[in-house]
Amino acid sequence: MSGESGVTGQEAAPASGRVLEEVGKRRAFAIISHPDAGKTTLTEKLLLYGGAIHLAGSVKARRAQRHAASDWMEVEKERGISVTSSVLQFEYEGRHLNLLDTPGHQDFSEDTYRTLLAADSAVMLLDNRKGVETQTRKLFDVCRMRRLPIFTFVNKCDRVGVDPLQLLDDVEADLGIHCAPVTWPLLDGLECLGVYDRRSGLLHRFRRTGDHGATRAAEETVALADERADERFPAAALERLREEIELLDAAGSEAAPEAVLAGRVSPTFFGSALLNFGVELFLKYFLEQAPAPGPRVVGDREVRPDDSTFRGFVFKIQANMDPRHRDRIAFVRIVSGSFEPGMTVTNLRTDSPVRLASARRFMAQDREMLEEAVAGDVVGIHDRGSLRIGDTLSGDGGPAFDDIPRFSPEHFARIRTEDPLRRKHLDRGLRELSEEGAVQVLFSESGPNPAPMVAAVGALQFEILLHRLEHEYGVEARLQPLPYHHARWAEGDEDEIRRLAGGYGRTLALDHRDRPMVLFETAFSLRTASEDAPGVTLHAVSP
Ligand code: G4P
Repeated sequence: MSGESGVTGQEAAPASGRVLEEVGKRRAFAIISHPDAGKTTLTEKLLLYGGAIHLAGSVKARRAQRHAASDWMEVEKERGISVTSSVLQFEYEGRHLNLLDTPGHQDFSEDTYRTLLAADSAVMLLDNRKGVETQTRKLFDVCRMRRLPIFTFVNKCDRVGVDPLQLLDDVEADLGIHCAPVTWPLLDGLECLGVYDRRSGLLHRFRRTGDHGATRAAEETVALADERADERFPAAALERLREEIELLDAAGSEAAPEAVLAGRVSPTFFGSALLNFGVELFLKYFLEQAPAPGPRVVGDREVRPDDSTFRGFVFKIQANMDPRHRDRIAFVRIVSGSFEPGMTVTNLRTDSPVRLASARRFMAQDREMLEEAVAGDVVGIHDRGSLRIGDTLSGDGGPAFDDIPRFSPEHFARIRTEDPLRRKHLDRGLRELSEEGAVQVLFSESGPNPAPMVAAVGALQFEILLHRLEHEYGVEARLQPLPYHHARWAEGDEDEIRRLAGGYGRTLALDHRDRPMVLFETAFSLRTASEDAPGVTLHAVSP
């Protein structure tokens, strides 16, 4: 049947040579980091090197401008932060990069996790004093679940940080991924004088640009083996570097491409995003090694990026908070085929046609870069409420991609409305907003007819929820915060799950599909849970 084309084992029509060439250029990636590690700064520098902007500093400026001009999202304007995780596109040395933004401050939410499902690789950005922090760890776990290749950039090396050997040991112990340094800092005492490129044998001298990194830094290099290196750098610093490199060589810290692609080894770089130091070395390597869009497994089959049939999945829905404009934008990651504005595809969940009429295009520059979108690209589609997170859009029938999992929430509250006549509206609103992925709705067994619980990864999701309930469903709702901070989906014997959830500072809830979840007040209570009920498996991501 025609609906089966485009997958392995079937008659899959290959895309045209030109489309294949375009797909080969695509690199869809995300940056995972803890707030303040320098994500905004690194993003600006990547755009600067990609020639998308000439003076770094404009990402922040652009954001500020957009807030002023936009009626896109009330909450966004009020808070002055970006709730929208969008896509920045830029070209670099013949590659077409799609950088998927992962909001990390107060706007950290389930969308941040879901965005990683649309990426083909990730850049892990670490502060050289702090190493792995909470949000890095959480995002890393999602990357690991997907076996994404991860490239590490240790940032802020213009100032004193933790000893690099110690830092990498800590990362390995914490995350269980092997770091393979491609560059290594040349340290004079605590000060970083440059980095050594282990592949080329060249030392790159660290130079502070006069304009705080607003322009590309000129690179000054000398081979470590060259005697001029001894003239330029203190003998003690070079000696230490040679010793450390020997150690790394002896430990076999190489970034073998297969191990990188499998997510077992992370090529690691040192530098300063602020001062543009080490950024270009990183970007070049990243472009060489980061994977182009690959096949996605659907059940026991694969959808390949070179199939001609359009297929994509919705990984994020951005609601318009302006009550006058109810439309929303669904972000679709293209997995195969190519997108042309105006094409009609099928939403496989509802078996109904969707006209991809007015795609929102993302701009890294003033001109629109997206004339046509192919596998590895993300398109934003205007939607009146028919699409849900996880929907498969297909130009030619099945199969549908797997469901997008739910990620464990960290904020919990009971939700009520004082007006009994609006109770039904509240229920409908919660059901629809939960289906859309804006919030999770949980139910507990305690008490007669208890109010539903809402749960979110980020607290801002609650503000958005209240706003939308009021403006879209006419319900003024109140939240009563609950003392839980962690949740896990529980699998195992029902009695054992109940016993586990009966412990101090814990409770049992059911998610929207009646799957049991245990909520925990403290991290300690969560940590000791597996000892209390060894037969129960706890999952941070919905099984
Ligand atoms: P984020 O998006 O990950 O939250 O981080 P962001 O880039 O906003 O950077 C957080 C702070 O760290 C900023 O300082 C930024 O200038 C600084 N920073 C980023 N990269 C480097 C680096 O390579 N070296 C050093 N020394 N600092 C770096 P701020 O004072 O909070 O803000 P701002 O006034 O500089 O904008």
